[in-house]
Amino acid sequence: MRLGANCVTWSLLPNFVFSGTIIRTGTESVFECDLVCTKIDERRQQSGEASFGAFTYHQVGSRAVVAAVRLAVNDMAMSKTILVTGASDGIGLATARALADRGHLVLLHGRNAEKIERVAEAMSLAGGRVEKYVADLSRQKDVESLADAVCARHSSLDVLINNAGVFKTGGPTVTPDGRDIRFVVNTVSPYLLTKRLLPIMEGVQDARVVNVSSIAAAPVDLDALSGKVRIQDDYQAYAQSKLAMNMWTYHMATQEQKGVVLVAVNPGSLLATKMVKEGFGINGNDVGIGADILVRAALSDEFAPHAQRSGRFFDNDAGCFARGHPHNDDSARCAAVMREIESQLAL
Ligand SMILES: NC(=O)c1ccc[n+]([C@@H]2O[C@H](COP(=O)([O-])OP(=O)(O)OC[C@H]3O[C@@H](n4cnc5c(N)ncnc54)[C@H](OP(=O)(O)O)[C@@H]3O)[C@@H](O)[C@H]2O)c1
Repeated sequence: MRLGANCVTWSLLPNFVFSGTIIRTGTESVFECDLVCTKIDERRQQSGEASFGAFTYHQVGSRAVVAAVRLAVNDMAMSKTILVTGASDGIGLATARALADRGHLVLLHGRNAEKIERVAEAMSLAGGRVEKYVADLSRQKDVESLADAVCARHSSLDVLINNAGVFKTGGPTVTPDGRDIRFVVNTVSPYLLTKRLLPIMEGVQDARVVNVSSIAAAPVDLDALSGKVRIQDDYQAYAQSKLAMNMWTYHMATQEQKGVVLVAVNPGSLLATKMVKEGFGINGNDVGIGADILVRAALSDEFAPHAQRSGRFFDNDAGCFARGHPHNDDSARCAAVMREIESQLAL
């Protein structure tokens, strides 16, 4: 960031350059600035003025630290509509915040109405454009209502980030209809939500589904997925549910869905969230590692349609696309998982 006497230019976000004139607004430490945001399109080697907005920064000694960027985006090509499930905590919350800070409209999903209300309020106060949605993803009816609510308010959706997930349930591990909650929340509900939202994503340029998976993976027991067999071990249930998510991602991307990019992403292992605290009793690594890769998966060119990564697994521990578990791209096994999920949803 470069500060002149009364003007500023800086390149805070990839591909964007801001410049403007500082207007002193009140307190000694906070300034506001009308600014011009210029989007640089690297692929087409073009640039042009795109929107106006405002930012605030705090003066720390002789340094200026940007506290918030608020973009009143008037070029809709720049602003995307992005649904983040499980935005009430952990990686989902950090991702939603980062996306809102970049000026995107973020649809915040949580299962607890008060918790997601607090999150939405805080993001709005920071200048973010957000909407909130409540649904318990262990209940099929809630998932359907969530999809209906999003479709009722939006005719198009750019990105769906299926982030909500559960490891230790802290209570019963099966739903009232006898299915393992890990499979329902981590595998089946994101599948159903994706299916229901695809109609408003198809036809959208560069639409993406980002499935938040894990490096944890264990061969899927179809009887456990259906609820006929109980898995006693939390880690085993979680690892099977995440591999099953990778498998439907691969099947949907390669067999059914050509227009929308679908990727499964391990956001990084043992990141500092309540899931890791409750599951492993440790504090964990910077949650920003997970948010950064999900923002990249949602927006960056490396995941765009022309990169031809649809159906693939990105392992953020390795920092690259990887084959991961050999069942990730085993077409016959992936199809079998899909059939089981479909048969549950047809009930
Ligand atoms: N942290 C890691 O190291 C790590 C590593 C690999 C993968 N992941 C994956 O990253 C994703 C985010 O996890 P996290 O680590 O950020 O954990 P977290 O802090 O526990 O967040 C999980 C999110 O999912 C929501 N959720 C859980 N059960 C739900 C249900 N039945 N219905 C609706 N929402 C539900 C939670 O809502 P509440 O706020 O109401 O609890 C919360 O918003 C998960 O898919 C997880 O498997 C995490």
